[in-house]
Amino acid sequence: MGANASLVLLLVLLSSGVALGGEQQVPSLRETYAPYFEIGAAVSPGVLYPYDELLQTHFSSLTLENAMKFVEVSRSPGSYRFHSADRVVEYVREHDMLMRGHTLVWHSQVPAYVFLDEDNQPVDRDTLLERMEEHIGIMLERYGDAVYAWDVVNEAISDEAGEYLRTNSRWYEIIGEDYIAHAFRMAHAADPDAKLFYNDYNAVQPAKRDKIIRLIKELQADGVPIHGIGIQGHWSLYDPPVSMIRQALELYSELGLEIHITELDMSMYAWNSTAPSVWEPTEDMLSRQARRYDEIFSLFREFSDVITNVTFWGVADDHTWLDDFPVRAQILTSL
Ligand code: GLA
Repeated sequence: MGANASLVLLLVLLSSGVALGGEQQVPSLRETYAPYFEIGAAVSPGVLYPYDELLQTHFSSLTLENAMKFVEVSRSPGSYRFHSADRVVEYVREHDMLMRGHTLVWHSQVPAYVFLDEDNQPVDRDTLLERMEEHIGIMLERYGDAVYAWDVVNEAISDEAGEYLRTNSRWYEIIGEDYIAHAFRMAHAADPDAKLFYNDYNAVQPAKRDKIIRLIKELQADGVPIHGIGIQGHWSLYDPPVSMIRQALELYSELGLEIHITELDMSMYAWNSTAPSVWEPTEDMLSRQARRYDEIFSLFREFSDVITNVTFWGVADDHTWLDDFPVRAQILTSL
């Protein structure tokens, strides 16, 4: 188990009052939380076989960590490859699970060609809008039946004080502020049944939360089809306080949308750590993490009229991006 472990299993033990005593006695997360919300995991095709039993026991919803991102499905103009995403979609169908689609429009993990013309110059607004529409159309046509909720736009809000939208995004630079509204309208036109989400990190921190609320209200006022807010939830032992999560849930609930917790994990490190403080989590860290998960899930249950899916980012403690963030695993191994 890595020091960044997300400790899904301890969480269910604490929440359900079951004594620790070996994996066989661990109750199913998906069954425990079925009265409240779906429980999801983020996967790559490579984890399906090794984690098959864990996935089927504990999760009712899957998200692809990477395989539906623009750069993963299309490396060069006019060519799309779907085999990785298809394998997971097949698994989801076979096991009667739900699938979240992640993600259609994001500043990161987009192939450079999307923003360039034949002379390697930036394309104009209309061309980029056409390319966005084409990409959204291709993804929704292929996966519209399998995916029930899409992260249409990811991380469009700025972290900078005094700046509203993220300006270091080629979508923003070339199209302008309304790229977000366009993306939602295009997704809705391509699949009128799909639930369309805006997804972001630091979404419970007051300054960013308020900008997200402003964005949602503007979209709603313009009649843009949007159905949900994705709170990523890359949290840690230290941050954010549960009271801050509560406040955000109260305010988001007033918008009349569904809420998905889309990328939940809980690092042992503060987000700005640069060096490992421990090799393995101490007992104290593990019980703090379990207590925090317990508090957070109690809170989620209170909001289960609006929270409909809680997805962990990763599968288990030995499969999580936190092995490399914020402290890289190589640093640990080279010590
Ligand atoms: C963000 C993205 C995810 C993933 C994580 C880190 O939250 O939305 O797709 O890249 O970062 O793994």
